[in-house]
Amino acid sequence: MGRKFFVGGNWKMNGSKDEIKKIVDTLNAASLNDNTDIVVSPPACYLEYTKGLASQKIHTAGQNSYKVAKGAFTGDLSPQMLLDCGADWVILGHSERRNVFGEDDQLIAEKVSYALECGMSVIACIGEKLEEREAGKTEEVVFKQIEAIAAKVTNWDKVVVAYEPVWAIGTGKTATPQQAQEVHAQLRKWLKEKVSEAVANSTRIVYGGSVTGGNCRELAQSPDIDGFLVGGASLKPEFIEIINAKA
Ligand code: PGA
Repeated sequence: MGRKFFVGGNWKMNGSKDEIKKIVDTLNAASLNDNTDIVVSPPACYLEYTKGLASQKIHTAGQNSYKVAKGAFTGDLSPQMLLDCGADWVILGHSERRNVFGEDDQLIAEKVSYALECGMSVIACIGEKLEEREAGKTEEVVFKQIEAIAAKVTNWDKVVVAYEPVWAIGTGKTATPQQAQEVHAQLRKWLKEKVSEAVANSTRIVYGGSVTGGNCRELAQSPDIDGFLVGGASLKPEFIEIINAKA
């Protein structure tokens, strides 16, 4: 089976050229596990700058992209533009896009489909809110989110699914390894039943939500956690420990 461990750093709307240089210099100088796919996602205006500084094993991702190539869509970016700036990955459906900017399942699925069509690799994010978990609706919510995405994906080779419970993002409240493993296992079962066994076995499902240098190793031991999408800690030197969590 052998799913390669995947660690993405989502810098969100943070960073400046000075700060990015410091972060990337630290990563470049570190010993990073060759068995981990590493992606950092700076704000789009710093993609080319980051790519120029980073060593070859560090890939870059946009934090969003629209569903068409170009046109009258003020403030938005296309996958072609991200590719042009050196990004081969894009994060889509992040909870902040869903909940702060009101993106729905349908739009996210269309964006995923278009980014894949353009040759990008996609980190497709899903996750339940606290009230949904407390109401016992976690599975219902994440299945509905992945179903919308799956309906538009024909080739899963370039898709990483990020399970990011909204209540764990930026809150310091990490899901326990058991809580995360339980949802990851359910998602893998869903992929097996609704897509195929091969896709279920090969698709990486990564966890996001207050992952730190302190909790990453325990989380990484769960059989269905294939890596992480990291926010706050990806701006700090502890990101190296997270990249090497499986070492
Ligand atoms: P966090 O963010 O690690 O700061 O909780 C994770 C994410 O939003 O991808």
